Amino acid sequence: MQQKIILVTGGAGYIGSHTCVALAQAGYRPLLFDNFSNSDPSVIERLTQLIGPSLLVLRGDIRDLATLKEIFQTYPCYAVIHLAGVKAVGESVAKPLDYYDINVTGSLVLLKAMKQAGVSRLVFSSSAAVYGEKTIPPFQEQALLDPINPYGRSKLMIEKIINDLYHANTLQSVLSLRYFNPIGAHPSGFIGETPTGTPNNLLPYLMQVAAGIRKKLFIFGNDYPTADGTAVRDYIHVMDLAQGHVLALQKTEQREGCWTFNLGRGRGSSVLEVIDAFEQASGQNIPYEVIQRRPGDVAASWADPTAAQQQLGWSATYNLEMMCAHSWHWQCHLDSLKVQRK
Ligand code: NAD
Ligand code: UD1
Repeated sequence: MQQKIILVTGGAGYIGSHTCVALAQAGYRPLLFDNFSNSDPSVIERLTQLIGPSLLVLRGDIRDLATLKEIFQTYPCYAVIHLAGVKAVGESVAKPLDYYDINVTGSLVLLKAMKQAGVSRLVFSSSAAVYGEKTIPPFQEQALLDPINPYGRSKLMIEKIINDLYHANTLQSVLSLRYFNPIGAHPSGFIGETPTGTPNNLLPYLMQVAAGIRKKLFIFGNDYPTADGTAVRDYIHVMDLAQGHVLALQKTEQREGCWTFNLGRGRGSSVLEVIDAFEQASGQNIPYEVIQRRPGDVAASWADPTAAQQQLGWSATYNLEMMCAHSWHWQCHLDSLKVQRK
């Protein structure tokens, strides 16, 4: 039987590359589409080693309608998994126009091209950032949606646009997946996260401290109303997240509908707990200093993943120690793999 081709926008990125591996393992043929603005083209070679030569790769921008039209004319895409976008919360506050342009306009152009080509199945990368700070965790999908930064607002706008397209019968089957905090890497050590410049996120920064690239970790506040005073997040292994996309895709094959699911483990870990788990997994000591809170951070965020468990048959399989071990394994491989740090 011929493999179904799945267009994966942002497929060269952190979550996209792991999703391509999970798709190939499940028997799909990923068509990776990326402009490499936040990824290193060397990932293609490493992905090909993991997946084999069936991986299709095209370079381009999601805001380029002509290119997308050509792709849909050339390849019979069964569905689209849309991950391309920008994701740094702080940067989104400083550069809202860029965030709305790439995330919202980019999604609109993609959706237009899908409509013209008659591609009506979509899985979209949303974020826990759509919930904001007024809701007390665990967050259920029906909770108040009140994002506190342009990044979160851009994700919520896209969710609403695709819901409208479903109700207008333009999309037949569509899922928005609200990711919590993906960390970890493929167990092979071949692919992982390669942040640009100084990492914004906790794990990439921690990994560079452990590797001796940075002197110490700065903990953003220890005066939160949490058990140890540091902020709490729902960390989830990127391969568990990738598997969530496979199940989401299978859902689009089974029935028509429009769904939104949290993808998180349903338990929170504080910054200090993550440091502890990482020290154990890596055998490295992590020096740190507590500084003031980071603007825009919520005290605690974790998912209620019941809906994804019941309706997608999805659940997270890796614990925090395994996530840290795989992150460290990846960090140790980076130099030998000659991955460019921009
Ligand atoms: P990433 O930056 O590693 O991957 C995004 C990819 O999209 C990159 O390879 C980049 O080059 C590409 N891209 C960016 N703009 C593009 C454009 N205009 N046209 C084509 N390609 C473009 O990020 P990631 O962590 O893999 O995140 C993937 C998606 O998941 C994003 O939409 C992000 O908002 C969402 N998300 C991420 C997290 C997280 O913590 N990593 C959490 C929630 C949601
Ligand atoms: C946020 C968003 C998430 C988004 C992601 C992408 C929320 C609730 N989550 O995740 O949806 O996709 O950004 O960038 O808005 N920390 C430190 N020191 C550091 C780095 C982080 O103490 O050097 C702390 C933070 O204060 C936070 C935790 O570690 O409490 C996790 O931070 P981070 O990895 O940046 O992710 P979020 O901000 O939770």
